[in-house]
Amino acid sequence: MADKTRFPTLRRRDVLTAAAGVASVAMLDSRAEAEAVDEAISAAGVNPHSVMKGRTMDVRGRDGMYVRMPRLDMESKGNFLAGLYVWRLHTLEKTADVRIRQIMAENGIDDETDMPWEEAVALVEADPIVAMTGRARHSHQKLKYAMLQREYHKLADEFLGEMARADKLGPGTLELNPSMRLPKYTTHEIHSMPGGYVGDPFAGHMYHAGTDLGAYVDTNFQDGVHMRMAEAAAVPEDGKVRRILDLGTSIGQFATSMKRSYPDAEVWGIDVGGPMVRYAHMKAVDMGVEVNFAQRLCEDTGFPDEHFDIVTSNLLFHEVKKQAAVDIIRETYRVLRPGGVFSPTDANDPHQTAHAKFTWWYNYRWNHEDWFLDWMEVDFTGEMQRAGFKVVEVAKKRGLRPRWIGIKV
Ligand SMILES: C[S@@+](CC[C@H](N)C(=O)[O-])C[C@H]1O[C@@H](n2cnc3c(N)ncnc32)[C@H](O)[C@@H]1O
Repeated sequence: MADKTRFPTLRRRDVLTAAAGVASVAMLDSRAEAEAVDEAISAAGVNPHSVMKGRTMDVRGRDGMYVRMPRLDMESKGNFLAGLYVWRLHTLEKTADVRIRQIMAENGIDDETDMPWEEAVALVEADPIVAMTGRARHSHQKLKYAMLQREYHKLADEFLGEMARADKLGPGTLELNPSMRLPKYTTHEIHSMPGGYVGDPFAGHMYHAGTDLGAYVDTNFQDGVHMRMAEAAAVPEDGKVRRILDLGTSIGQFATSMKRSYPDAEVWGIDVGGPMVRYAHMKAVDMGVEVNFAQRLCEDTGFPDEHFDIVTSNLLFHEVKKQAAVDIIRETYRVLRPGGVFSPTDANDPHQTAHAKFTWWYNYRWNHEDWFLDWMEVDFTGEMQRAGFKVVEVAKKRGLRPRWIGIKV
């Protein structure tokens, strides 16, 4: 667990702590509150950038590594959304699952066959229970991100100040490339996140909070999922792990988990999203974990040939175009040393239930998973082999173990 005394970045809570008497403004509306905080800070003669060191308390505190939402009303909305997500997953989706199996049975179709997704969708999408479940998923995403974007932007100065301060701190490094050419396919509003990974300064904040209130409810606060993935990571046969690269690192959870599992290794996390690696760096600074984050393209990493012992990626490939997937595999082969291991995790198993196919189609159609159908067409094992990898494992389903393990021969 992270040590509270090791969080040197500027947080709104710290500003509040430094500003004596400000607690009473908590009941005011947000604009008045923000103004009152600013006034109190300047009245107290406090430079917000100097109040971090040596502090002993947070006003709103943390849940494990996770910085609590900046305001209680935001946290309540978050809790409501997390509850809605769990209810949909455990109640609505299960009901839809029964219904979809019924529809398949009525049509004499084995649910586990390799039925094309178009056929699965056509059979089930008009069913009211199925349609309501899809709609609930869609509305949850929209509500969640609208709330998060609004709230982070309301407190933009504080959050930007916090990141600017962390930019310069270690132990790891941060490389931003604001003039980098962004391939068009990386610029859409992926899974309904406003601005996507590259277009909003708080993309990292929204991604972290968004996954807490959705995909990873209750398993994200300690990077639990990513730590278990790191513990299950494939390593080269000779056991030498000196350098690790995490592709599409997002907010760096896998990269920092790998560093915690292999403390002697030099670890890099790269991502096309500047705001993503910026947040990743701030989070790693908070944790005191030494990882180098860089805004770079996975298909053009800029690292020397044969540089890494392990390259990981989690959930990157379903979010890139087909050709980019091929290019990234080839680039990975280039930067791995002979005997090095590439262990990507993602979902493109064609042997899925009709329900799973419908869900992915819905995500593609309504949740801006624009490249998911592209991804379903990628012969990933074949592409790895064509790049030169010896593929030693293809797990049946996505899980904490990588779905593919390829060795550079
Ligand atoms: C679903 S997220 C990955 C989640 C993360 N690996 C984890 O385990 O939490 C996909 C990430 O890939 C990044 N990405 C997509 N295309 C990329 C590319 N061509 N080069 C670098 N990063 C890319 C996105 O910016 C995004 O942060």
